[in-house]
Amino acid sequence: MLHPMHESTVAVVGLGKIGLPLAAQFASKGLRVIGCDVLPDVVESINAGRAHIREEAGLEDAVRDSVAAGMLSATTDTAGAVAKADVVIVIVPLMVSASHEIDFRNIDSATKAVAEGLKRGALVIYETTLPVGTTRERLGPMIERASGLRAGADFHLAFSPERLYAGRIFEDLRKYPKIVGGIDQASTDAAVAFYRSVLDAEVWEVENTETAEFAKLAETTYRDVNIALANELAMYGASRDVNVGEAFRAANSQPFSHIHRPSIGVGGHCIPVYPHFLLGDAVDGELSLVRDGRSTNDGMAEVGVRQLERALGGLESRRVLVLGASYREDVKELAFSTAIPLVDLLNRAGAEVAIADPLFTPSELGGFKAAVVDVDSPEALAAEAIVIQAWHHEFRALDWRRFHNLRAVLDGRTAVDPAQVKAAGAAYLAVGLPQPASPLD
Ligand SMILES: NC(=O)c1ccc[n+]([C@@H]2O[C@H](COP(=O)([O-])OP(=O)(O)OC[C@H]3O[C@@H](n4cnc5c(N)ncnc54)[C@H](O)[C@@H]3O)[C@@H](O)[C@H]2O)c1
Repeated sequence: MLHPMHESTVAVVGLGKIGLPLAAQFASKGLRVIGCDVLPDVVESINAGRAHIREEAGLEDAVRDSVAAGMLSATTDTAGAVAKADVVIVIVPLMVSASHEIDFRNIDSATKAVAEGLKRGALVIYETTLPVGTTRERLGPMIERASGLRAGADFHLAFSPERLYAGRIFEDLRKYPKIVGGIDQASTDAAVAFYRSVLDAEVWEVENTETAEFAKLAETTYRDVNIALANELAMYGASRDVNVGEAFRAANSQPFSHIHRPSIGVGGHCIPVYPHFLLGDAVDGELSLVRDGRSTNDGMAEVGVRQLERALGGLESRRVLVLGASYREDVKELAFSTAIPLVDLLNRAGAEVAIADPLFTPSELGGFKAAVVDVDSPEALAAEAIVIQAWHHEFRALDWRRFHNLRAVLDGRTAVDPAQVKAAGAAYLAVGLPQPASPLD
């Protein structure tokens, strides 16, 4: 039997960008929370009341207050924490190789530690995005083997995808329905009761763990395919006198149309990765649209670089500055960032590439074959072309007129005002805009 929720102790395994805000949220609802992480520095800083994740609004206060109130502590001893816990939330990442092989090592080792400590009657919920079937077929049996307990009979087991957007997590926690599916009805009921006690958002029960796992993959794959469609439509429209931005806004005034924005690439550890969780076990031509969408989006960096190349009449020895190494604005994350193929393609075209991203130290960007510069430095201000990859807040006050050699801006995120770029004497390029009639002089 589970404890009444308000007396429960929760172990949150994985205290990263998602796990730490979750831990603070549960503590703020009056539960005792023990956070577990393999990184001693992370644990130490949390126990000192400090959040090591800096970009999350409200997180520093939430961690400080819950640690001071004695409701949140952290440890590297996952098994020890789980031994005290009535509810265990696992939110450690799956790693994916460049060729999209899934590396289960983090979650397997977290699972073994959970199994070592697990109490009879406890509830284990996985929140990490997983391929369909993983909770029931891989992780549950792993817990059973290492603990000697039976899933369903001795402990509850459920999956609930995390759908939050890093940077506005506390806001999303109040808004997004929490999808929950267990391996059996008792597990679903226990997980639903837990989330009702710690979230203000609606808790939404689905039939089983597989449905909950699939819901997250369907949602992210929808966005990937939608962006691919937007890219294809944008390229089609651009060569036919269409104002693509206006056309999409007009199309989306019909309530069933939700065309996303075209761009020079989809990055991060979610949207370009999760379609591969589906494709990994697709058979006999299943999901061909998903596969095609992935390849369209993966090809967009090249589309952008070719656009720039044509506009400048070649990139050989051109000084090109990439703004933003992150995969998107205002987040410090390089996973599958479009900056990686962009820098590579620019180098191969012979450009002199520089990259600026205030969220990273120069050594953190050492893997790029590019000069790492400050956006205000003389090297940056000498750029002949700029590619906007991640439009961080720190860039927003940039005055294009300070770039005295600037001839073209490729706005990979349709983030800036074309008029301001043109006022600085440079061409404004973006996916979905017609190519200038002839190379700029
Ligand atoms: N970041 C996002 O925007 C986002 C959005 C929705 C869902 N998610 C899901 O959340 C998962 C976690 O993402 P994140 O951004 O919090 O990751 P992260 O890299 O910021 O943090 C993960 C933490 O887990 C810890 N960890 C790794 N292995 C561990 C183990 N065996 N035991 C204990 N701790 C361990 C790491 O040290 C790290 O502190 C993702 O894989 C994804 O499934 C993330």
